[in-house]
Amino acid sequence: MIQLNPTPEELESTVVPKSPWFDQLVERMGFEAVRERLSREEILRVRMAPDFLHPDGMADRRLPVRGLDLIIKSSLLANRARRNFEDIRILERKWSIPGLSPEMDGYRLLQASDFHLDFDPGLVSRLEKVLRGLEYDVACLTGDFFDLVFEEESMDVPLLEELIALFPKPKFAVLGNHDIVTVARELEKCGVRVLMNESELIGTPESGFWLAGVDDPRQFRAHSFERALMGREEPGPVVMLAHSPEVYEDAADWDVSLMMSGHTHGGQICLPWGLPISNHFKCPRAMISGAWEHRGVQGYTANGCGGCKLPYRLNAPAEITVHTLRCGR
Ligand SMILES: [Fe+2]
Repeated sequence: MIQLNPTPEELESTVVPKSPWFDQLVERMGFEAVRERLSREEILRVRMAPDFLHPDGMADRRLPVRGLDLIIKSSLLANRARRNFEDIRILERKWSIPGLSPEMDGYRLLQASDFHLDFDPGLVSRLEKVLRGLEYDVACLTGDFFDLVFEEESMDVPLLEELIALFPKPKFAVLGNHDIVTVARELEKCGVRVLMNESELIGTPESGFWLAGVDDPRQFRAHSFERALMGREEPGPVVMLAHSPEVYEDAADWDVSLMMSGHTHGGQICLPWGLPISNHFKCPRAMISGAWEHRGVQGYTANGCGGCKLPYRLNAPAEITVHTLRCGR
């Protein structure tokens, strides 16, 4: 993945739009952070989008992707890889959270991640079946709502609305490396609380915990644990949403109890035993899929329910995860 580093001139020439939503975003994130994110989005749109967008549709058609497509298509694994991509399993995890009050014991957070809706619009109807009757207290959506949307005009807002309607409980989200910032605006119109380096107290001031979230640390480098966590007025453990697990050191520095991430798709196309065919995830291999621990931080990297580049999964099943918090020592 290419890092987008704006020059001082590019940064200076980036205009933050004047609108009530952007004015509010500047208050929430700070002017420099918003301008830098928009500047990176512009670089992505101008310099990188032509590599991805083709007249025959929105698809990543770069050579390594086409090569891998050909290999899988011509192998005996093709049907299985395609079926795996569409099958979504429900996983349950229990976490012992130090400092969690008895009142919040058993609180359930549903995590869904990496939808990439424009790559796979059929995901919404598959999710509808999987989510029906599932019990939880809040939904945590950990980014990559879209796949190759470089400007807001190409965002399929009705499809996003259909997705969000599948989660009837209170909803929180963070943006991923595929999400331009105006995805947050559309999510908020649907009633999602998007955590743009922010935190919310869940429960009462006496017995609640903090649900925090940082903006994408991967492509847009827009995350700030300091900003997300500095405003807390009450004590209580912190559950952090961060699209990519690569910020595990920040999580440890800020005494996060549990960090929930996505981004990796569990490798999406892996060799047996979940060995990814490439590792460009900027985190230890143990953090690419499932539960991990680092310097007192418990972490979970979800494989996600969607995928990108190719409609296949091998040895990295798609998932929805229900996390139950338990009082811990
Ligand atoms: Fe993703």
